[in-house]
Amino acid sequence: MRRLVPLLAFLVTFPASAQTLHDALESARADKASESTRLASLADTYGTPLYVYDRATIERQVKALKDAFVPRFPKLRIFYAVKANTNLTILSMLRKEGLGAEVVAAGEIVTAQKLGTKGADIMFTSSSKSPAELKLALESGVTLNVDSLDELEQVQVLAKKLGKKARISFRINPGVDPHTIHQINTGISESKFGLHLENGIALAAYKRAKELPNVVIAGAHCHIGSQITETSGYELTARKMLGFLSELKAELGITLEFLDLGGGLGIPYHDGETVMSPDDLARALKPIWDEGVKTLGYEPTLWLEPGRFFVAQAGFLLTRVNSVKTTPVKTFVNVDAGFNTLMRPAMYQAYHRVRVVGRKDDVKKVDIAGDVCETGDILAADRMLPAARAGDLVIILDAGAYGFSMASEYNARPLPAEVMVNGNEVKVVRKRGTFADLFRGQTIPK
Ligand code: LLP
Repeated sequence: MRRLVPLLAFLVTFPASAQTLHDALESARADKASESTRLASLADTYGTPLYVYDRATIERQVKALKDAFVPRFPKLRIFYAVKANTNLTILSMLRKEGLGAEVVAAGEIVTAQKLGTKGADIMFTSSSKSPAELKLALESGVTLNVDSLDELEQVQVLAKKLGKKARISFRINPGVDPHTIHQINTGISESKFGLHLENGIALAAYKRAKELPNVVIAGAHCHIGSQITETSGYELTARKMLGFLSELKAELGITLEFLDLGGGLGIPYHDGETVMSPDDLARALKPIWDEGVKTLGYEPTLWLEPGRFFVAQAGFLLTRVNSVKTTPVKTFVNVDAGFNTLMRPAMYQAYHRVRVVGRKDDVKKVDIAGDVCETGDILAADRMLPAARAGDLVIILDAGAYGFSMASEYNARPLPAEVMVNGNEVKVVRKRGTFADLFRGQTIPK
C-alpha cells in the first residue's frame, strides 16, 4: 500500500504529461478537459486553422472494415474513395493496407499513380468524363466505370484509335433511397448518376458493350449515396444488383469479374450516436450475397469503395477564436476557419461536434462563425458550449473526410496546413499555403 501512494500522487500531479497527442485528441473527442496543453502546443507550433489527422484512427477504421468483410467474403477487393481526403501520406497508408483507389477525375488518377497504384487497382467513376480523361484512363489501364451509352460509344472509338482494349464496368442506378442528406443521395431515380435498371436500360448497355471489339466487360457498379447509417438500403441494392447479374447471364450470357456495391458507410457525427458498423453491414449482406451467388451459379469478387469511413473520424480541425460578439439575437464565436476551410456545414447543413479547448464553465448557446465574408459561413449553429474568449482554441471533430479536399482559397485565404499524429509524434504532411500560392500561374497586365 505504501508503494501505491507515490504512484497515485504522480498520476494526479502530472495528468497532461501522461497523455500522448493521440490520447489528447481522444480526450477532445470525449469532451474531457485534460487535453488542453497538448493541443494548445500543436496550434502554437503549426498555426491555425490546422487539420490534425490521427494515424491510429485510420488504422482502426481499416481494420474494422477488413475484420467485418474479409472472413465473410473470401472474394473481396477494397478501394479507397480518394476524394474524401487526397493527402499523399493518408493515401500511402491506405495503399500499404492493400487498398485500391476509387477515383473521379484525371487528377485523382494521377494522384493514385503517384503512390504506385496502377491499372485495375484504380476504379474510375464519373458521370462526366472529358476526352482527355478517357484517354488517360485507357492509357493507364484503369477500370473505366461507364455512366452512359454516349460515353460507351466514345470509349470504343478512342480505344480503337489507341489500339487498346477498354476494361469497363457500368455504373448502375438501382433506384434505392438510402435515407441520407439529399445532396449526397446518389442511387435514387432522379440522380444524375448511372444507368437505370428500369426499362431494360442497363441491360441494353451491356448488350451494346458486348458487340464492341475494343471493350472488355469486367463488372457492374453502384453507389447509392454517402453517410449511410443503416443497412436496409445496401440490402435492397445488393438484392437488385445480384438479380441484375442473373439477368445478364440468362439474357446475354455475360458473367462478371466483380460487383461493386460502392462506398457510403456513415460515421457518428453526434455525441452518443450509434450508426451501422461494418460488422452490421457485412452480417446483413452475407445471406443476400450467398443466396444471390447460388442463383447466379458463379461468384463475382465483391468490391467496396468507402472514403469517409476510413478518414472522417481521424481528422480534427483546430481553429482559434478571433473575437466573441453578442448581438441582441445571438452570440457569435468568430474563429479563424470558415467554409473555405470546412465546407460541409455551409453546403449540406452538416453537423460537426465542437469542443472549446480547456473551458468548461458558463455554458451558453452560441454560433461558431467562420471568417469568410458571407452570412452563410456558420460552422456550427445554436450550440450549447462553454464560454470562449479571444485566443481560445476550438476543435471541430470528424473533419478528416471532405474537409481539406473541399477547401478553397476563397477570400484570398491560403489553404490550411495538415499534420499527422502518430502516438506522440507529429509530422507536417502538407505545409500551410502561402500568399504566393494565391498568385500562382497569374500575371499582372502591363
Ligand atoms: N464511390 C463513389 C462513386 C462516390 O461518388 C463516392 C462519394 C464514394 C464512393 C465514397 O463515398 P463515402 O464512402 O465517402 O461516403 N462531400 C460530401 C460527400 C460526397 C460524396 C461523393 N461521393 C460530404 O461532405 O458529405
